[in-house]
Order: sequence, then C-alpha cells, then structure tokens
Amino acid sequence: MTTSSRKLDHIRICTDKPVDAIDRPFQDLVLVHKALPEIDEDDIDTSCEFLGKKLRAPLMISAMTGGHPDVKQINVRLGEAASRLGIALGVGSQRAALENRMLEDTFSAVRDVAPDIPIIGNIGAVQLKRYGPEILERLAEMIDADAIAVHLNFLQESIQPEGDKDSCGVLEALKSAADGPVPIMVKETGAGISREVAADLVSAGVKMIDVSGVGGLSWAGVEAFRAAEVGDGELEMMGRLFESWGIPTPVSIVESRAAGAFVISSGGVRSGLDAAKSLALGAGLAGTALPILKPATKDKESVINVMNAYIRALRITMFLTGCREVAELSKVPLVVLGRTREWLDARGFDLRAFSVYRELAK
Ligand SMILES: Cc1cc2nc3c(=O)[nH]c(=O)nc-3n(C[C@H](O)[C@H](O)[C@H](O)COP(=O)(O)O)c2cc1C
Repeated sequence: MTTSSRKLDHIRICTDKPVDAIDRPFQDLVLVHKALPEIDEDDIDTSCEFLGKKLRAPLMISAMTGGHPDVKQINVRLGEAASRLGIALGVGSQRAALENRMLEDTFSAVRDVAPDIPIIGNIGAVQLKRYGPEILERLAEMIDADAIAVHLNFLQESIQPEGDKDSCGVLEALKSAADGPVPIMVKETGAGISREVAADLVSAGVKMIDVSGVGGLSWAGVEAFRAAEVGDGELEMMGRLFESWGIPTPVSIVESRAAGAFVISSGGVRSGLDAAKSLALGAGLAGTALPILKPATKDKESVINVMNAYIRALRITMFLTGCREVAELSKVPLVVLGRTREWLDARGFDLRAFSVYRELAK
C-alpha cells in the first residue's frame, strides 16, 4: 500500500469510527475560580506570538493531512479557516510528496490561502533519518514553512502491518536537524513525551516539543480498525491492547516543561478550557486535530465555528481566573486531581507548585 492511499484509509477511519479516547485526563485539572476577577472582560487579550508571528489566540490546528489529491480541499479549508482566525496550522506528513512530486500542491495550496500565519511542515523521524537533514529545506520550501515538525509515532508503527520499527539513530538525526537552518519541533502523535525523552531532545538542541499525549486520538485504535477490515485478528488485538498506551497529555506537558522545552499541548484538547488548563500547566500553545477533521470535510465555516468556540471558552476561562493576558494563565492556581495527580506524584513532581505556592506568590 502506498503512503498516499494509506492516508485516505486513516481519514476515512478517523471520520467514521470511534477513535477518540473515552477517558479525559484534562478533567483531572481544575482552575481555581476567582470570584473577584477585578478585570473588564473587554480588556482581555488572547493574542500571543509564535514563531515570530502574532496569533489571535494560542491555538493551532494540529497536523493531519495532505498527500492525496482527494484531501487537498481539506487542507485548503483548514488553511482558509486558520488564516481567518489568526491561529497556527500544521500540515500532515509531507512524506507522500517526497515520494511523488505531483502531490506537492496538496500541501503548498495551504500557504496560497494562508500567507501570514505560522505554518508547520511535517515529516516522520524515520524519514528524516533516511533522507538526511537536508530534506528539511525542501519540505520547508514546499509550503514556505515557519518550522517543521518531526513526528514520533512508534506506537502506530508497531501496530501497522507496513510499520517501520527501526528507531535506531533517530536522536542523532534530530541532533543534526536541530543544527540546521530550518527551525524544528519534535511531535508525538498520541502517546506523549516523558521527561527523560524531553531531556534527550533538549540536549540534542530541540527547543520545541508538541507532546501529543494520551487522551485524544488513539493511533493504535485506528490501526485496530484497519486490521479488522483486512481480517488480521492478531494485529487488531494488538491495536486494542495498546489503545491507551502512553503518557496522558497533562502529565506530558509537566514532564516536558521540566526538561526546559517550549511545549505545545495536544492530544485530547477538546475545548478552549482544556487549552487554558494546558497553559496553566506551562504549555505555550495548544493544538487540536480530530475534532476539526469532520468539519473540514464539509466547509471552512464549520472549521471556523469549532475553533471560534475554543477561543470563546479560552476567553471566558481567562475572565473567571482574572487573566488579562495569555501569559498570566501560567500563574493561575490549578488543582490536580485523580489519576493525573497519582501520575505526577509517582514521577516526583510537587503538585503544590501549581496549587498553593502560586496563590501565595500573587
Ligand atoms: C486524520 C489524522 C491524520 C494525522 N496525520 C498526522 C501526520 O501526518 N503527522 C503528525 O505528526 N500527526 C498526525 N496526526 C496526529 C495529530 O497531529 C495529533 O497529534 C493527534 O491527533 C492528537 O490530537 P487530537 O487528540 O486533538 O486528535 C493526525 C491526526 C489525524 C486525526
């Protein structure tokens, strides 16, 4: 099966099947309500800067697609919507366009409709290793990218029949890439990044990490559906067994921040409230993918409506926590409950750093 046609399989399964997590780790986080916000809602400013460009809100549409003629229109709608909203956009893996130049316009069309926003290119770590760091310049030129995300998806590769399971030398390849002229970020795809891995990445020169943790789309789940369709019972079983494998997104934010990276929160960010919680945990930006896919198969207005609701909820959260600016969210008292608390406790983090000390420090 070609990279291009596999892409269509993934989009079809992600739009038709229940591939989103049922457990929502963001529900373990409670921002402490401020009954006396002492700000005028009209003064709230949700804007921020990302990759040297101004965003209307600290949000991005995460990497999804491109690489097949049938999905070009989806990318165009995402580009138009992100441009209208003034938020960042990641394109899906550009691998298919490296294998077949005719597919380049399924990616470059995004920049044509979104000249001013940050656009992030995308390639798998295994492909980076194979093609070498020089490939990043070609990928960046294709879409006039502001940065390239190198994705890690070894969970998916393990369950995929055609998966590439040789991860040797990936860190070295990332180190060479980080030394090059194209800004890079490293991105998981639904299984999260630990403090140890984040520390390795930071030591290799990687400054931005998109944690993409557990709590949203499960690629093992997607591959389980694919395996079932071709009657591969054993792979289907593996997909189900590893459906929830990985590090929950809120945990992964704290772990990656502890290593000193600029963190993008993704994986189950399902509202502007989840985005605000991400920023309170230390992320600089929050991204979402799956909730945008179906709207993008309809029209750009549907995408705009979903993302406008994110911005509105973010604004309400800022009001109710007394934040005039986005950066202030990182100082809002936050209570961590349930399984997320147990995770972070077990990993040695002092949770009072989020709940008690902040309030005292204010
Ligand atoms: C249809 C689809 C295709 C995706 N393709 C890519 C990809 O090519 N590269 C990548 O880094 N992530 C890809 N992702 C993963 C997302 O960028 C994101 O990390 C993940 O879906 C978790 O976010 P969510 O829970 O908001 O969906 C894809 C997600 C979806 C739904």
